Amino acid sequence: MKKLKRSLFLSVFCLAILPYSLLAQQNEKCLSCHGEVFYQYENEWTGQMDKRPMNPFYHVDSTKMHLSVHKSFACIDCHSPEYETFPHSGELRMEEKYACIDCHGGDDDYAKYNFEGIEAEFQESVHYKANDEKFNCWMCHDPHGYQLALRENGPIKDVVSLSNDMCLSCHANKFQYGLLSDDDPKAIEDIHAWLPNQRNHFNKVRCIDCHTKVQDDILVSHKILPKAEALRSCVDCHSANSVLMESLYAHRVEESRAQSGFFNATILNEGYMIGANRNKTLNVVSIVLFGLMIFGLMIHFILRLILLKKK
Ligand code: HEC
Ligand code: HEC
Ligand code: HEC
Ligand code: HEC
Ligand code: HEC
Ligand code: HEC
Ligand code: HEC
Repeated sequence: MKKLKRSLFLSVFCLAILPYSLLAQQNEKCLSCHGEVFYQYENEWTGQMDKRPMNPFYHVDSTKMHLSVHKSFACIDCHSPEYETFPHSGELRMEEKYACIDCHGGDDDYAKYNFEGIEAEFQESVHYKANDEKFNCWMCHDPHGYQLALRENGPIKDVVSLSNDMCLSCHANKFQYGLLSDDDPKAIEDIHAWLPNQRNHFNKVRCIDCHTKVQDDILVSHKILPKAEALRSCVDCHSANSVLMESLYAHRVEESRAQSGFFNATILNEGYMIGANRNKTLNVVSIVLFGLMIFGLMIHFILRLILLKKK
């Protein structure tokens, strides 16, 4: 009986991990080259094993891939199975890649993301207008590592860094930028020299919070505006009705409203932004302190007057 139970358990266990082990096996072959710094192959002419460095741009980080939204994919779900032979056929590089919308368009399971709306917005962005089809969704969404950020309940600073890395992977990398432009990218620090405490700002707000306008039916706005329209005014964020409530904090606001009917709590937990949060107790305390200070000054003033008269 015990034996039966154990073998039953084992077979269920094996069935459960089967898809993953098959997937791992399938990808292992590709990753034996694309996951390594060097790759090896048998040279048919000399009969030797040749060792070559892998082009870093063709390197796929399997850990990152495992965290990505497409972790359950085999390489050849998106790439031609012909890649299994090496050397790869030269024609393969002309192969057309899937677009997000090919798989996610018109699918009710993904309706909440509004892929169609995002695509329409993206086509209005500076990037698409300057480059047309040469600029596509994959340029920001790493096909081998894209993770959802805002919808996951991680700390705001993680959301911000995942999001900003998408822009910096190109705007701070002349090789990536060079695929689209003959110029080198300008240094991000120089462009934003007018912004005080730059490092703190870039850790706490996303590039898109200043470079897009919020769209009602899209959680992450995709229309990157021309630079002249970027947000510059401090009070747009540092005020009680901060624009961040509708962008970076939008998801949290909705969630905590639903949970507790009170939204400042979650945001306050993560950091206090000057001007954006109102706290009644603090207001009362500061008024009382202010009153006490005036009172103290008056006493001081009257005492001085009396002392002056006495002289
Ligand atoms: C023996 C090592 C090796 C194996 C195994 C291998 N590749 Fe490659 N792959 C390379 C090298 C080297 C390049 C770059 C030079 C070239 O294109 O031949 C490359 C290039 C590529 C490219 C880019 C082509 C381009 O120019 O745009 C893709 C995509 C690719 N491989 C996918 C795969 C997939 C998917 C698998 C597994 C089914 C795989 N490779 C297996 C070595 C390998
Ligand atoms: C969800 C779809 C998807 C999966 C899964 C996927 N790729 Fe890719 N891959 C792409 C797309 C799209 C591009 C082209 C990116 C671009 O144009 O910027 C690409 C590009 C590449 C390149 C060329 C490098 C480059 O940036 O152009 C290599 C090499 C590659 N993939 C290997 C792999 C390997 C190895 C795996 C499995 C471990 C894999 N891919 C899994 C979609 C995918
Ligand atoms: C080849 C088809 C294919 C392509 C191309 C593709 N996806 Fe996916 N995507 C899927 C599938 C299938 C899943 C579900 C995977 C799972 O549940 O393991 C998924 C999952 C996701 C998820 C997570 C959804 C959720 O609610 O958990 C997001 C977000 C996503 N994809 C965004 C994108 C973006 C952005 C692009 C383009 C840059 C893209 N996808 C391209 C097929 C695709
Ligand atoms: C200029 C860079 C860029 C381009 C191009 C881009 N995206 Fe995004 N996308 C982002 C950033 C940044 C996020 C925010 C990351 C996060 O919070 O999950 C995001 C988030 C998303 C999300 C998740 C939104 C949600 O509601 O949680 C989807 C879906 C998506 N993008 C689809 C697309 C599609 C489809 C395209 C092409 C039509 C595209 N993206 C092109 C930068 C880009
Ligand atoms: C606090 C708001 C704010 C944030 C955050 C922000 N920017 Fe900007 N950015 C601006 C403004 C305003 C300009 C216009 C500056 C000017 O024209 O002098 C600008 C200009 C730019 C330009 C155009 C430079 C040029 O002269 O061609 C680029 C590119 C850029 N930003 C990228 C980024 C990236 C990438 C990030 C995230 C790491 C980011 N920005 C974060 C407000 C911001
Ligand atoms: C793959 C490279 C790449 C990525 C990723 C990228 N950009 Fe750009 N961006 C460019 C290039 C190249 C230009 C110069 C104009 C052009 O040719 O598209 C540019 C221009 C800009 C400008 C200046 C527009 C103007 O009016 O001159 C801003 C602002 C900007 N990008 C913001 C962003 C933000 C925010 C993100 C991330 C959400 C991002 N970019 C992601 C390549 C990129
Ligand atoms: C896109 C929204 C946004 C804009 C625009 C913005 N800020 Fe901020 N600012 C923030 C956030 C978020 C923080 C981080 C608060 C925290 O530390 O939790 C911050 C922090 C600060 C801090 C505190 C820095 C520290 O190290 O504690 C100062 C000072 C500041 N901002 C001044 C400004 C000034 C001056 C401007 C206009 C030139 C400006 N900010 C524009 C969102 C913004």
